[in-house]
Amino acid sequence: MASSLLFLLISLLFIQSSGDLQQHNEEGHISVMISDKGLDFAKDLLIDKAIASIVMSQLPEIEKSVQVPLVGKAKVVLSEITIKDIQINSSTVETGDSGIVVVVSGATANLNMNWRYSCSSWLVPIGISDSGTATVKVKDLEVGLTVNLRNQGGTLKLILLDYGCNVGDISIKLNGGAAWLYQVLVDAFEGNIASSVEDAISKKIREGISTLDNLLQSLPQTISIDQTAVLNVSFVDNPVLSNSSIEVEINGLFIGTNKVLVPRSSLNGLETSTSCGGSPKMIKISIHEDVFNSASSVYFTADSMQWILDELPDQNLLNTAEWRFIVPQLFKQYPNDDMNLNISVSSAPVIQVTNQDIKATINLDIIIDVLESGQVIPVACISVDISASFAAEIIGNNVTGKLKLIKFSTNLKWSKIGKLHMQLIQSLTSSVLKTVIIPYLNSQLKRGIELPILDGFAVCNARIAYAQPWIEVCSDVSFSGDSYLMLLPASVS
Ligand SMILES: *[C@@H]1O[C@H](CO)[C@@H](O)[C@H](O)[C@H]1NC(C)=O
Ligand SMILES: *[C@@H]1O[C@H](CO)[C@@H](O)[C@H](O)[C@H]1NC(C)=O
Ligand SMILES: *[C@@H]1O[C@H](CO)[C@@H](O)[C@H](O)[C@H]1NC(C)=O
Ligand SMILES: *[C@@H]1O[C@H](CO)[C@@H](O)[C@H](O)[C@H]1NC(C)=O
Ligand SMILES: *[C@@H]1O[C@H](CO)[C@@H](O)[C@H](O)[C@H]1NC(C)=O
Repeated sequence: MASSLLFLLISLLFIQSSGDLQQHNEEGHISVMISDKGLDFAKDLLIDKAIASIVMSQLPEIEKSVQVPLVGKAKVVLSEITIKDIQINSSTVETGDSGIVVVVSGATANLNMNWRYSCSSWLVPIGISDSGTATVKVKDLEVGLTVNLRNQGGTLKLILLDYGCNVGDISIKLNGGAAWLYQVLVDAFEGNIASSVEDAISKKIREGISTLDNLLQSLPQTISIDQTAVLNVSFVDNPVLSNSSIEVEINGLFIGTNKVLVPRSSLNGLETSTSCGGSPKMIKISIHEDVFNSASSVYFTADSMQWILDELPDQNLLNTAEWRFIVPQLFKQYPNDDMNLNISVSSAPVIQVTNQDIKATINLDIIIDVLESGQVIPVACISVDISASFAAEIIGNNVTGKLKLIKFSTNLKWSKIGKLHMQLIQSLTSSVLKTVIIPYLNSQLKRGIELPILDGFAVCNARIAYAQPWIEVCSDVSFSGDSYLMLLPASVS
């Protein structure tokens, strides 16, 4: 599950508004809600990237012939017009009926450029020409865009609905040159410079949105977990927008690579605040218990819940001699033979998220095998019903946790070596559970389930809450890598 699904932070500047937050699609088992704090974070990140891609970009040359009193007709060319820097005073992101609206206002930009002119007239028969540099300060730059996100066959499509850029004021500082040139630049070129800046930024917006859209479309719809399972990360329905958050749903179920379908149950009752009972966080990821049950079902169906135990901390237990007084028949039939335990999960473990923790019910069959002259002879079978609790925690970007045995009960299913003492069975089972099975399961669980976060992003200060039947992870997000955002085009050409 290395690369993950959620561009969310970047893409989630956008949406479709109508929709009731309480209404959950039956197919969405993981929901990701981005709060206004998260939207602000995403907006700032995107604006930083956008500025970085605009700065140092060069605008097209501007050339004009102008009639200058006393001087005559002058051909003036502005070249190498370069945006040197941009400062943003304020920016906002708002979710509304029309989509997601991002507005940058009161920005200033500094430009460098070269100028040159040549002119001739009957007054000045010898052509004159000159060249030099100038700096331009663009003030009160306003940029706005409205976007929308739609589900398109399980992926998200980003649609640019509207955008615009407006330069409020321009001031020019001429280095060298004649006084008349300054007036020409102000009178004849100001408008051209302004629209050139507006065009460059508008083009950048179109390119940036198209790159983000391509990025969204290229996100996989399934993520391979291992040989047995893939996770279905298709988006379900259109994202839902409220005035302070955006929510997307993902199918989130494990699917066997052999395509065994997993039963679904209906969903309801997801809380819609992003607080998890504390200070507001950027995102809330809710994971339905069905996600865990689908994993349980896939791995059970794939027969990957079976182990042969031929080592125990008390290795003597795996020889018939140790049992000679307790189960005389065993020793009589198979004197001094080694034994092993064939442990298999007999039905898919059931996982339940309560309001306090996660409960797991696991049913095992432990078959006692005797190993005699190269043959494996099953001699008895004990069934064990285990109930355990699971405390989730976040490690890195993964939800992991530890299984803790609450209680178990045993039952002798069948025996070819006579009746076994229940007490004996209990203590054997207890030893196997505590020393082998629970530690083994915990080592498997350590890896956890990766949260759906884009590469380059990491959750931080995550908090877990349980809201039957959902686990909620509320978290802030930090951005460390550029892997996706680097894809934004780097220059206006
Ligand atoms: C920046 O914005 C604030 C209001 O948000 C305004 O008072 C201030 O004048 C602005 N500064 C510039 C340089 O535009
Ligand atoms: C957002 O919507 C809720 C109700 O849906 C309302 O109480 C709240 O005032 C709204 N907030 C803003 C900033 O419009
Ligand atoms: C993955 O989830 C989507 C959305 O719920 C669903 O339409 C699709 O059939 C699922 N894919 C598989 C292989 O189950
Ligand atoms: C373990 O027991 C199961 C039946 O519960 C059986 O299908 C499997 O073949 C056994 N495995 C070995 C290696 O004996
Ligand atoms: C998170 O899980 C993935 C596999 O799902 C694993 O490769 C990665 O090492 C895990 N990260 C941590 C910090 O355990």
